Amino acid sequence: MGIKLDIFRFDEATDDVPHRDVVEVDVPETTTVLDALETAKAEIDGSISFRRSCRSAICGSCSMNINGVTGLACKTPCNTVTNADGVIKVDPMPNFQPMKDLVVHMDPFWDKYHRLKPYLQPADKDEDHERERRVSPEDMKKLVDVANCVMCATCYALCPVVSVDPAFAGPAAIAYAYRFIEDVRDSQRKERIAQISEDYLWLCAHCYACSYCPKHVDPNDRIIDVKRAAIKDRVMINERGPRHALIVSKTIKQTGMLAETEVVLGTVGRFNVRGMIKVTPQALRMVASGKLTPTEMLAGTAAPMLGQPSMKPIPKVDEVRTIFESLEVPVS
Ligand code: SF4
Ligand code: SF4
Ligand code: FES
Repeated sequence: MGIKLDIFRFDEATDDVPHRDVVEVDVPETTTVLDALETAKAEIDGSISFRRSCRSAICGSCSMNINGVTGLACKTPCNTVTNADGVIKVDPMPNFQPMKDLVVHMDPFWDKYHRLKPYLQPADKDEDHERERRVSPEDMKKLVDVANCVMCATCYALCPVVSVDPAFAGPAAIAYAYRFIEDVRDSQRKERIAQISEDYLWLCAHCYACSYCPKHVDPNDRIIDVKRAAIKDRVMINERGPRHALIVSKTIKQTGMLAETEVVLGTVGRFNVRGMIKVTPQALRMVASGKLTPTEMLAGTAAPMLGQPSMKPIPKVDEVRTIFESLEVPVS
């Protein structure tokens, strides 16, 4: 039995709206989605367009949406994704503008990557390493996984923050920033942390959608590492994002739970009257949903005059603090 491909068709040069074509190819069910598409292009319709090169999950070209899940077509056997009705739907990656069929405009992805200056910038003069700059096996171990990134943009296509805020650098760029931030041969650690912070590092919501990476780079964990590096090196830590992270850690460590009023005050800034007015509607919604009591809200409003509202620890808070200490979570 053949494989039915339900293909997104669109040509920005000629079409106002996309349409779909269903084609059936006679290939074994264990063939990859990419090879099924190749067969359709070779035997049925030569105008079907998609990117590919290596057919071995190395070049990163063939990322597309396959039955609702974005991944590399050359690494996806048909029999692992076929619908109950025997159809495989193929669409362009989300978060990108389609150009022709499954080919998308990659410019926003590459622009964010180029902003990183993705090459080593060693110090001009390094007396310790006049002939060569060596990296210990321990230091190199940290970089190996990220160096496996093939720039396929699967993670970027999966990221919900990119879909609502296209200015966000996205998981691949942040993971690649980590690759240079943690490289002991590079001299631009602080500048790189500042650059990626300006590219909205702190917008990442840690939803783990990007942990589905065909090369196991696991960008989410690297994003946490970059945020930790920013706090450790105190780069732009007075911005809202790091302030929020630190105050969340601080209240949980002190009380064993999230102290909402203190989190808002710490994030917005205790004496930032304009900021406090701005978050008042959100505070009212929190009261309405029961996340905040009216007393807590009023205590928060009066905090600039009264100081830090009391943060009463839960029983056995020491056990929570032990977790923090074992994880070595930085708390200011
Ligand atoms: S991190 Fe993974 S999913 Fe993202 S671009 Fe690199 S290889 Fe692709
Ligand atoms: S963890 Fe962060 S970068 Fe990754 S998909 Fe979620 S919001 Fe995007
Ligand atoms: S064709 Fe190169 S990664 Fe799929």
